[in-house]
Amino acid sequence: MVHLLTGMSAATTAAELLASGSLVIIPTETVYGLAANAENESAVHRIFTTKNRPSDHPLIVHIAHANCLDYWALDIPDYARDLAAAYWPGPMTLVLPRNTPAMDFLTGNQETVALRIPNHPVALEIISQLGVVTNNPCAGIAAPSANRFGKVSPTTLEHAVQELQDYLADTDAGVDGGSASIGIESTIIDCTGESPIILRSGAITEQDIESIVALSESDNSTVRAPGMLASHYAPTATVKVVNTVNDIEPGATDACLLATSGVITPIGVTRIGSPRDAHEYAHVLYAALREADQLHATVIYVIPPEGPGIAAAVRDRITRAAHR
Ligand code: TXA
Ligand code: MG
Repeated sequence: MVHLLTGMSAATTAAELLASGSLVIIPTETVYGLAANAENESAVHRIFTTKNRPSDHPLIVHIAHANCLDYWALDIPDYARDLAAAYWPGPMTLVLPRNTPAMDFLTGNQETVALRIPNHPVALEIISQLGVVTNNPCAGIAAPSANRFGKVSPTTLEHAVQELQDYLADTDAGVDGGSASIGIESTIIDCTGESPIILRSGAITEQDIESIVALSESDNSTVRAPGMLASHYAPTATVKVVNTVNDIEPGATDACLLATSGVITPIGVTRIGSPRDAHEYAHVLYAALREADQLHATVIYVIPPEGPGIAAAVRDRITRAAHR
């Protein structure tokens, strides 16, 4: 049983547990994370075993203050500081050359470290309290999404607990912070070169970045983002991407449909989401995929949102969820 921490002291208790080497499921504005003290080797190792994640897939370190960039990273370009000033706290992760606290067990032996300040009051309080408890104001929390490897990221505590409870220890815990407001993972930006390169799309869009600094002409980053697999975010049901409801096979049984609110559900198909726009689409996407599995659907038909910005990030997740 995962211990659920509630009330005023939840963040402090979570920080004490993290300091003693336990894992804690934490809320963020993107998705829920499975957190460990980023400098505790055995705790970080348990993140990998709990998720069944390959050990060469590095973890994002969540920090509470931009002035801790220099504790974790080296050779920070001015444009990375500008991006941090513009979008932190927020759904943006910066990949930078690592400093000594970012050890091999965290970075999967890469010479870089991924850093983010989450925009969630509970997450920020837990990170700050970990700084107090460990007497290290730049203490960081390593936190991948709180799902088993390759599966759908959780956007509520309930989903995270359902996903991981069989693999967590009695001494591990979870903190509720409501449903994740954004709903898809952060934008990851390679900041090791002359100009930035997007490694994973998210709610901080190309346009957002370009308003601060020009993106690199080449999208051939030399940095590996080993988690970016063609098949990812996959529910048990088969995901089929279609353009209109006319593409749904006639007589499809146990089929679900996810599409924006203007689309009418064909008879016999179960609607699992009707987001009004791309932001709401991101917010409901993962919960809808989980609901289809709960309903034992065989096929999930998905009509993706159109347009640039966060719609592009939603299409990226849908494509990976559909890949077999
Ligand atoms: O929104 C998010 O980013 C969420 C919340 C919990 O913060 N976290 C998340 O973590 O999505 P995860 O582990 O599921 O995805 C992190 C991705 C992986 O694809 C990993 O390979 C990449 O970030 N990554 C981490 N460190 C890296 C590094 N040093 N260089 C390149 N890619 C890195
Ligand atoms: Mg993940």
